[in-house]
Amino acid sequence: MEKTGIVHDGVSIKIYDTEDPEKVIISFTDEITAYKKIKKAVIKGKGKYCNGISCEISRILQENGVPTSFIEKLSDTEQLCWKTSVIPMEVIVRNVIAGSMAQRLGLEEGIVPKEPVYDLCYKSDILCDPLINDSQALAIGLVSQEELNQIYSMTQKVNAVLVPMFKSIGITLVDFKTEYGHMPDGSLVMSDDITPDSARLWDIATGQRLDKDRFRHDNGKVGEAYKDVYERLTNREKFL
Ligand code: CDP
Repeated sequence: MEKTGIVHDGVSIKIYDTEDPEKVIISFTDEITAYKKIKKAVIKGKGKYCNGISCEISRILQENGVPTSFIEKLSDTEQLCWKTSVIPMEVIVRNVIAGSMAQRLGLEEGIVPKEPVYDLCYKSDILCDPLINDSQALAIGLVSQEELNQIYSMTQKVNAVLVPMFKSIGITLVDFKTEYGHMPDGSLVMSDDITPDSARLWDIATGQRLDKDRFRHDNGKVGEAYKDVYERLTNREKFL
């Protein structure tokens, strides 16, 4: 499949149109950013690990009945996806308190909430993706009530599939961010990749962070951590 033009020229992800107007190629780079892209670096191999992790997670979700925009892995760093019209809303799931929720509510990282927490954010670079609630999402027309119900039920399913899958490879799925979009026929699909850039993954045995927090907090060994997640995910039979 040939690329015909760039749709999204991101730092860690680039999205290209193809000869087929319904399909895009997503290409992962070795670049990493944090703190509104102020902090940047190149992590050798990151594109390969993130693409591999994202493809594997999409396959697992599809096998478990979650519709996603993923079609197939094309190469180490590229995947083919359906082109969706993405809803400018992030859905964050928190199984363990960390990051912005810990800061906002003055809580220790590592507390397990009574129920998983679902946060919505309005995707806007200028506004820095502010937290919104259900009625705000409805009021500004991001989604209908029916779509919101569907989004929550799909996100619950994603979490219910991924928590035990990560546990089986010795990792706690602390939190993750995802997004949804509409397919050309109007159906709703998960249209975002889940990688250590967008999820917090803690090693169960050691508590070590295996995600972008290593970069945010200058813990080093970022590439090694992403590689570790990639290798565990793609060799799951070894953990049976
Ligand atoms: O990461 P940060 O502390 O700024 O925000 P958070 O609200 O605690 O993020 C929860 C999870 O969503 C983390 O795994 C983030 O990496 C991810 N996230 C993301 O991928 N993109 C965003 N724009 C916001 C959060």
